[in-house]
Amino acid sequence: MTPGRFITFEGGEGGGKSTQIEKLADYLRGRGVSVQVTREPGGTEVAEAIRRVLLDKSLPAMRADTELMLMFAARVEHVETLIKPALASGDWVLSDRFADASHVYQGAGRGVDETRLDALHRWSLGDFEPDLTLLLDLPVEQGMARVRQRGVKDRFEEEQTEFFERVRAGYLARAARFSQRFRVIDASDDIDTVARRIQTVVDAWLPN
Ligand SMILES: Nc1ncnc2c1ncn2[C@@H]1O[C@H](COP(=O)(O)OP(=O)(O)OP(=O)(O)O)[C@@H](O)[C@H]1O
Ligand SMILES: [Mg+2]
Repeated sequence: MTPGRFITFEGGEGGGKSTQIEKLADYLRGRGVSVQVTREPGGTEVAEAIRRVLLDKSLPAMRADTELMLMFAARVEHVETLIKPALASGDWVLSDRFADASHVYQGAGRGVDETRLDALHRWSLGDFEPDLTLLLDLPVEQGMARVRQRGVKDRFEEEQTEFFERVRAGYLARAARFSQRFRVIDASDDIDTVARRIQTVVDAWLPN
């Protein structure tokens, strides 16, 4: 049995991750691939419970280290109980965000020291990583305008524009550093144009 592929979707708010992950899942299923769609933080019962704490606006702001460790705690659950077993059974796993988001939001965004972040990453995940990471990139203002139209805000969406500029730059820097597995997708165009860009990248991965 061929193991499945692990594809992650990354990028700032309103880039279209949730929209495009469903489009890619449909596209792959149409080509006979068995697909599981999941998200972070979350994806398992325990990890979804941790997610509720992370996004709870009624709680006072938590320390950056606390947030980071909760993110990785949820991620360990996600990897060990959902992602690895799915890949081993031949399913492809599409995840709406993964470890890169911690490096970018807590590292580039909130200034957590990268060396400590790398240590926590190694300690939690070893060398497990996505086969492919699609970075949906677009100007911060454009992404925020899309999110505003969507309505309700959570804690992360109330951050200032400056924070999201650091997030965008952080993602692009990470894509350049790990260029083997990252593909930067211009997400500023309409939904179907962006979907076709993603399909072109993923076509190269399909079994013949
Ligand atoms: N290419 C696009 N053009 C215009 N609107 C879009 C496009 N892609 C998504 N949208 C719309 O913008 C909003 C945000 O998209 P979506 O929820 O997929 O982004 P996201 O990256 O998952 O955001 P978040 O980080 O907040 O979860 C949605 O209302 C969606 O319908
Ligand atoms: Mg989303």
